[in-house]
Amino acid sequence: MQTYSLGELLHFHQKEKIEKKIKDFRCKDKSINHFFTKKAIIFEEKHICRTYINWEADSIDSFFSIAMGIIAKESIKKETAKLIFDSINTKQKTHIPVFLLAQLAKRMESKSIGNTLVNQAMGLIYEIQSRIGGALIVVDAINQEKIIKLYREFDFQEIEESKDKKIVKMMHYISTAL
Ligand SMILES: CC(C)(COP(=O)(O)OP(=O)(O)OC[C@H]1O[C@@H](n2cnc3c(N)ncnc32)[C@H](O)[C@@H]1OP(=O)(O)O)[C@@H](O)C(=O)NCCC(=O)NCCS
Repeated sequence: MQTYSLGELLHFHQKEKIEKKIKDFRCKDKSINHFFTKKAIIFEEKHICRTYINWEADSIDSFFSIAMGIIAKESIKKETAKLIFDSINTKQKTHIPVFLLAQLAKRMESKSIGNTLVNQAMGLIYEIQSRIGGALIVVDAINQEKIIKLYREFDFQEIEESKDKKIVKMMHYISTAL
């Protein structure tokens, strides 16, 4: 399996070819299929997020997208907020920047596992974080027990549920020492 950034693929190959491969991709989640097949290229071109694609043989096996985001300070757990903000004056701050693990999926027939995908995304975020700082990674997880469990394995904690209960916002605190 080879991993490429979507930007790189668009730069080195004909856009139509990449579009066709993307259109053939189907995972278990409708809204993620919609994002990937209809928005991923536009979002890449507009720098809204970056998508990374795993290729197996001649098709797309899986992908993940990461982006910058913000989160309301009050939605962060008190103990975590204390760890981040202790000893710095942040009274005026209502929101703080986060890394977003924006999308993540594998093709329905794929043998690869979610674990590998989360690991790839987190590895990349940690690499960027070591250069520019940042303390939090946030994911809007689909409210399915097995998906929540997957993120818990990577030390994500639930912080809030959407009104329709379909999404659980989860947060990972980057606590590695310098
Ligand atoms: C998330 C994902 C990469 C994990 O891959 P994996 O570790 O190989 O795990 P599986 O695909 O076997 O999924 C584990 C279980 O969760 C279920 N599941 C996974 N995604 C689901 C979804 N979007 N909606 C409902 N159930 C889902 C699977 O049906 C499976 O249940 P089962 O064990 O009873 O068969 C993969 O399930 C996937 O691509 N899902 C669709 C996209 C998605 O939901 N991404 C998460 C965004 S937060």
